[in-house]
Amino acid sequence: MDIFDAILNRRSIRKYYKDHPLEFDKIIAVMEAGAHAPNAGGLQAWKFVVVLEDDIIEEIASYCGGQDWIHTAPCVVALCSDLKTNKDYYGDSGDMYAFQNTASAAENMMLTAYGLGLGSCWVGAFDREQITEILKVPDRYRIEVLITIGYPDEHPLQKEINDLSSFVYFNEFGNKVFDVHTMMGEYSKEWQRQLDLLKKKTSRYNRETQHFFKQMKHKFDKDYKPKLKEFLDKLKKGEDKFRQK
Ligand SMILES: Cc1cc2nc3c(=O)[nH]c(=O)nc-3n(C[C@H](O)[C@H](O)[C@H](O)COP(=O)(O)O)c2cc1C
Repeated sequence: MDIFDAILNRRSIRKYYKDHPLEFDKIIAVMEAGAHAPNAGGLQAWKFVVVLEDDIIEEIASYCGGQDWIHTAPCVVALCSDLKTNKDYYGDSGDMYAFQNTASAAENMMLTAYGLGLGSCWVGAFDREQITEILKVPDRYRIEVLITIGYPDEHPLQKEINDLSSFVYFNEFGNKVFDVHTMMGEYSKEWQRQLDLLKKKTSRYNRETQHFFKQMKHKFDKDYKPKLKEFLDKLKKGEDKFRQK
């Protein structure tokens, strides 16, 4: 599955087919995806506790602020950060990295679950003390995130997101542009089209591929870079009619 498809179409799933067996290899693939996530210093200072026992899942569900739907999940994963390792390496920043690391692993896991036909949901509202006790998590670790995983028994539609111009700024906070695509031209589409054409011809990285990248770089330097510079200069001077604070 194309990564962009997964990003656009993944939705939080809060109802699962409890009786649909969840293949173990899929769970392991999801764990591997988590382990490949960006993390501070590449330390992988985390543990993932995979819960498959109904009784334990029931117990966890009862400590998630009334989120009864959690017990429909055949699998709950607790992403725990290793506070000690993060602190030893990064001092005061370690605590912040601890959460950021697991957040990045969580997103990898959820996208992979989606790619494997599974649903998932990030659960941030939970009683950490109680669930730490249920899962026997040692002191040096902190449960940062819970993720439910299973076959979806609901199919939410793609969601609406805010217009890019309302939250994407250029060069300084507040510099926004109404229609980035129109301003810059659809270069990535052209790039993709060329790449698809090339892929039809060859599946290997060879001289032809290298030639393609050289050509595209030339096109990029010649057409796109001056346009980008002109656009950013205008934006800086406040001349651009699309600019809006
Ligand atoms: C930090 C964080 C905490 C969240 N906590 C919960 C939660 O406790 N329960 C829940 O049902 N969803 C939770 N979510 C999921 C969000 O509600 C959901 O991602 C958001 O509404 C966007 O919908 P989508 O995931 O379908 O795109 C959480 C998400 C994040 C990132």
